[in-house]
Amino acid sequence: MPVCSPIAILDSGLGGLTVAGAIRAALPQENILYFGDTARVPYGAKTAATVSKFVRQIIDYLRPQEPKHVVIACNTATALALDDARKSFPGLSISGVIEPGAKAAVAAAGKKPSPLIGVIATEATVRSKAYEVAIGRRRTLARMVCRPTPLIVPLVEEGRGGDDPVVQLALKQYLLPMYQEGMDVLVLGCTHYPVYKDLIGRMLGPKVPVIDSADQCAQDVRRRLVDSSLLRTADAVAGTLRCYVTDDPPRFARLAQRFFGFPVPKPTWVSIEDLHDPSAGAPVQVRIHAPAAAVMRSAV
Ligand code: DGL
Repeated sequence: MPVCSPIAILDSGLGGLTVAGAIRAALPQENILYFGDTARVPYGAKTAATVSKFVRQIIDYLRPQEPKHVVIACNTATALALDDARKSFPGLSISGVIEPGAKAAVAAAGKKPSPLIGVIATEATVRSKAYEVAIGRRRTLARMVCRPTPLIVPLVEEGRGGDDPVVQLALKQYLLPMYQEGMDVLVLGCTHYPVYKDLIGRMLGPKVPVIDSADQCAQDVRRRLVDSSLLRTADAVAGTLRCYVTDDPPRFARLAQRFFGFPVPKPTWVSIEDLHDPSAGAPVQVRIHAPAAAVMRSAV
């Protein structure tokens, strides 16, 4: 596989751009393919079977471009579908965002013997207990408070900023009980949430570090590329960014520019009908053979 092969990054919508931004900052020479499944966002209340199918379809769509690494830049899809994706595409290097997020959270908790680590995430991520497992593996005595915060992804996808009173009210409702419990660290367990990271930081104050997995995830990708001798050298030409979305490319580009500040070159629209699930076998061409007489009758 050539070193100039792209890194593929996928999410249900805009959220994975927080990870794409960190990867671009850390590895500016890498080519990036970004896929936002905007027609089917949010993933957070869907089942593992559904999200796994979506992830297989997206990876299968990007596979002809021979990505050297795939990042599932969505906590929900990491929690529900990473294992399935690795099994479905055994030749592909695939990683998620939960392990890097857990690593960053444990580092931020410092030396406190039994820190209280808070996680806000989608319903599906919280139900999966993926953060409890990933953090528990690193700090056996950590206490955890994990809270589903399902209103936040739709607010981001709707384009509401941190100055919006609805956003502020929703976050306050979600975070106040965790703050009152004495949380030491808060993990943003959804890649959409860093859009409100400054606001959340202001609400919680300087004593509660707010962690998102993006930078740690970029370091994780770098390490994987170094290990497989696929990292582009720093003197290579600047990498490119190509985006694919399943609905409303202009809206995606507009919101990406507004929230993340980097211009997104005209995203390509991908119809859901063009996505194929490799585990379903070859696409079936349906042909209806109607007897000539029947066709004649229905035409009359
Ligand atoms: N960015 C996804 C995550 O990290 C959002 C999930 C959703 O679409 O609900 O979980």
